Amino acid sequence: MLKYLPKIVLFSLALIVGRAFAVPAKRMAKTKFVIGMSQCNLGEPWRVQMNADIAAAAKAHNNLEIIFKDAANDTLKQRAQIEEFVSNKVDLIIVSPKEAAPLTKPIAEAYQNGIPVIVLDRRVLGTDYTTFIGADNAKIGKAVGEWIFKKTNGLGNVVELEGLMTSTPGQDRHSGFRKGIAGSKLNVVFEADMKWLEPNARKEMESALAVHKDIKVVYAHNDPGAHGAFLAAKAQGLADKILFVGVDGLPQEGKAYVEQGILAASFEYPTGGREAIESALKIFAGQKVEKEMTLKSRVYTKDNVKNGGAWL
Ligand code: FRU
Repeated sequence: MLKYLPKIVLFSLALIVGRAFAVPAKRMAKTKFVIGMSQCNLGEPWRVQMNADIAAAAKAHNNLEIIFKDAANDTLKQRAQIEEFVSNKVDLIIVSPKEAAPLTKPIAEAYQNGIPVIVLDRRVLGTDYTTFIGADNAKIGKAVGEWIFKKTNGLGNVVELEGLMTSTPGQDRHSGFRKGIAGSKLNVVFEADMKWLEPNARKEMESALAVHKDIKVVYAHNDPGAHGAFLAAKAQGLADKILFVGVDGLPQEGKAYVEQGILAASFEYPTGGREAIESALKIFAGQKVEKEMTLKSRVYTKDNVKNGGAWL
């Protein structure tokens, strides 16, 4: 039968079959993929959790090796880590950048060098990276505002303790919140950048309480900040009069604070660690990944925390 097929058809068939086998064979040649992960700091439980989520997801794949670096909240150090990953020719970079503007260039350079880059949680400027994975911080901020609006009937003095305002989650959690309380009589009487850090939040809250005794709500951009503010108010016997609201919703942190009655609400901020590894595997397999992956969040309050919270 075959002998009746024209030579050209046979030749084409051979080419197709050859290619089909050649591609996987080429990929098979690489038995190990090295991923460089630059974490902006490991001071907060949320970041420790992100690294743990990455490590747990990678564990199932013995062809992955992850090099974790902690930039210890130092932008220059994080920049150097990314440059080092490039010169060591890692196969992919995962980065959770401390600040947007100063880390844009090294990340763009890595990407232009042909190294796939997954940006996690905090954004950089422009589009010179492979994919961004994170929750919608503007949506979270707006949901916080609407929740507080409802809870207070839109009336009362508010303290806003902001995350680092040179990082995009801080900016978005702030602008979203202001949209959420628009049209209410909630009055933001004190606003300060606590840079995501609990000790800073505690100090800022002490300053707020020195001037305002009639604070109804504290909105901190993360749960460590809300907890710091709670401790400051507690020391003055004022914690019971104030609603504390934070973001992150880790089981061992924000969620537990809600269960203990310390926070009135905590809004979940997923780490994206598992999704980063899933995307890395797709990239290594030559598959396309979306430029942006938006993760979902929930709100935990005393009424719903036992049932797993409510999706935003
Ligand atoms: C940890 C953290 C989290 C916050 C996130 C924002 O460093 O401050 O608490 O949700 O970063 O990027």
